[in-house]
Amino acid sequence: MTSLRYQRLYVNIDHVATVRQARRGREPDPVAAAVLCEQAGADGITAHLREDRRHIQDDDIHRLAAAVTTVLNLECAITDDMLRLAETLRPAQVTLVPERREEVTTEGGLDVLSHEAAVRAAVARLKAVGIRTSLFIDPDEEAVRCSQAVGADAIELHTGTYSHHPRELVPLMALRTASTLGSTLGLAVHAGHGLSVHNVGPVAAIPEIEELNIGHAIVGRSIFVGLERAVREIRNAMDEARAADRF
Ligand code: PXP
Repeated sequence: MTSLRYQRLYVNIDHVATVRQARRGREPDPVAAAVLCEQAGADGITAHLREDRRHIQDDDIHRLAAAVTTVLNLECAITDDMLRLAETLRPAQVTLVPERREEVTTEGGLDVLSHEAAVRAAVARLKAVGIRTSLFIDPDEEAVRCSQAVGADAIELHTGTYSHHPRELVPLMALRTASTLGSTLGLAVHAGHGLSVHNVGPVAAIPEIEELNIGHAIVGRSIFVGLERAVREIRNAMDEARAADRF
């Protein structure tokens, strides 16, 4: 399962909580959704605890940490509160993301170069308690090099520009170049944001990318076909792209 060909799918369940928070009730429960995703073949569960708590709540993260049997990937900003929560709950992986309250979703990668000291300190704190660290960055050479310099285990390449322009060569080439560089520097390479069955293929086919984080498209599709089928459709699209003769 860990061969280069196999690519992990981590399902981001934030938007199950978005629907629940529309009524501030208990349903639908993102933890129950996480269990279904695992049953459908997800290799991990990703959840973003935002500072404004617009979807995932603290209680969700505590319950996910107890319920997830695969891997919990906690996405959070670099704040003392978030790092303390991670140190307490010890998810298998933390992905550090930038965060602005006014944004609709995470709009750009972490500016590792401008915040090098803070990122380095956060990575060191997380690694000290055995947490695998990933930095959500734009597919930019300097950001990749800086991620390695601050000691991260992995980079997650922001696929937002690609997913808005899937037919243009430049965004895809940027992902390919950053993936090759990251891998050459000894970083594990992940990717995510805006991926769906319609655009995931070319990204899934990048050999160095070992993990994809996908949320909105799966939760949106699940309204029509159910969560398990929505997960399987993405899984199949990834496997088909991976089965191509590049390996
Ligand atoms: N990876 C990161 C770091 C993210 O912040 C998000 C969005 O929360 C995703 C992946 C998933 O993006 P999407 O919901 O568009 O699939």
